[in-house]
Amino acid sequence: MPGSARPFLRNCELAVAARTDVAFQQCIAPACGATFSVDEVLTSCPSCGNLLDVTYDWDRLRPPTSFEVFERKWMRRSDPLAYSGVWRFHELFPFAPRESVVTIGEGQTLLSVSDGVGGFVGMKPGRLHLQYEGLNPSGSFKDNGMSAAFTHARMIGAKRAACASTGNTSASLAVYCAVTRLMRGIIFIGSGKISYGKLSQALDYGALTIQIAGDFDDAMARVKEVSGKLGIYLVNSVNPFRLEGQKSIMFRVLESLGWEVPDWIVVPGGNLGNSSAFGKAFAELRKIGLIDRVPRLAVINAAGADTLYELYHKRGLRWEGGRADLSPACHYYDELDRDKKRADTIASAIEINRPVNLNKCLRALEVCDGVVREVTEQEILDAKAQVGAGGFGCEPASAASVAGAKQLVAEGVIGRDERVVCILTGHQLKDPTATVAYHTTDQKLFNEVLGSRGVSRASFANRSVSVGNRLDEIVQAIELYG
Ligand code: F0G
Repeated sequence: MPGSARPFLRNCELAVAARTDVAFQQCIAPACGATFSVDEVLTSCPSCGNLLDVTYDWDRLRPPTSFEVFERKWMRRSDPLAYSGVWRFHELFPFAPRESVVTIGEGQTLLSVSDGVGGFVGMKPGRLHLQYEGLNPSGSFKDNGMSAAFTHARMIGAKRAACASTGNTSASLAVYCAVTRLMRGIIFIGSGKISYGKLSQALDYGALTIQIAGDFDDAMARVKEVSGKLGIYLVNSVNPFRLEGQKSIMFRVLESLGWEVPDWIVVPGGNLGNSSAFGKAFAELRKIGLIDRVPRLAVINAAGADTLYELYHKRGLRWEGGRADLSPACHYYDELDRDKKRADTIASAIEINRPVNLNKCLRALEVCDGVVREVTEQEILDAKAQVGAGGFGCEPASAASVAGAKQLVAEGVIGRDERVVCILTGHQLKDPTATVAYHTTDQKLFNEVLGSRGVSRASFANRSVSVGNRLDEIVQAIELYG
């Protein structure tokens, strides 16, 4: 369906006009702070090489003074921009004119209390919430950001888009290309590094899929090089517009809580785009006066891909108002190279050793008085099984948030009656291999997939029961186990 997104949007009223005069790209380093037009395609500051933000002149924009504006949009659900869980909050990231907006209906996601998972984490009833981003069109939170990146790409007339991916960004890029036909999608993945669920999406949606002999960190370095050389639009989270869309996850959390700020947001950390976006969202909401306090932020690494944990928790790296000496990060990367250490975790989505948004995440941790933890493969899989038993289901990386929350409650850092939101970043069906291996009765499969990673038990396994094709055996099994 060529150009399908366009007629879909044509009749929308123009509530948010073109904002090139009040929205800018800006270097995040306070000592530099260089600004650039939103019409430029940049993934780092041309002056100093640091990351870029999209910033707004809020004084001139006069953003909403209450959350009611967003609530009223529920009455106009036939308008695609009011229907989208991202663009419903357009006033909070007004970098694009309304007619440029690309939406495929992303962000219809849920915040739910889960006392089952809460009990596992050690929380009192009613306190643990799960923000289930698996309900997005491509099954992960990435669609929030992809919708914003596609909007920017459309503003500047890009024809090809690329990403490196551990699987979900690629699935998201591929689905936006397939539905909108605005760009050709080119995907770089580490060879044998992504789950079949995600690979199958990229292939099915028709993206050009390039498997590189290497891992995500290699693919990321290459895609930056290639997209610069060929002028291809990069949709990884170094693209500041993508993170603008991901802020909406926090807006929906607040919306679901009646605009009350929770005590904690707990999120898995991979390339650190989400945590960065969340910190920016809360800093901006506080700046424009829509909230008067920010939640605390917990970023959870997998132990096999724990750069942030190592640098923040063990080596004391901090943002320090943007004045931090970031050389510990460079030293650490040199050590990784020297020791030939590669990221390695069952949570393949966060199997990343060189997170591109490290600096922004450090800033978010400062804004939100954050903490960083790492969780083992065993902790991830047990937490994942509990999320499944709670009726949600998520992929291993997502369960890191729940495993991390459990650890923080056990340490007493998170109080049992605080209000906690764990972000479930990806759908359960993304990675069936890990799930089946956890619940299996086949010891060989368990050992191959999980035992080899140091997982010794499946405490919450729901094992299938094998019977002969005989009525009496089936009846007996149901009476025994049913
Ligand atoms: N959870 C899931 C399911 C992911 O796919 C990712 C990242 C993360 C968590 C980490 O989020 O990068 O914002 O810290 N996946 C990327 C990808 C890297 O290529 O799909 P982050």
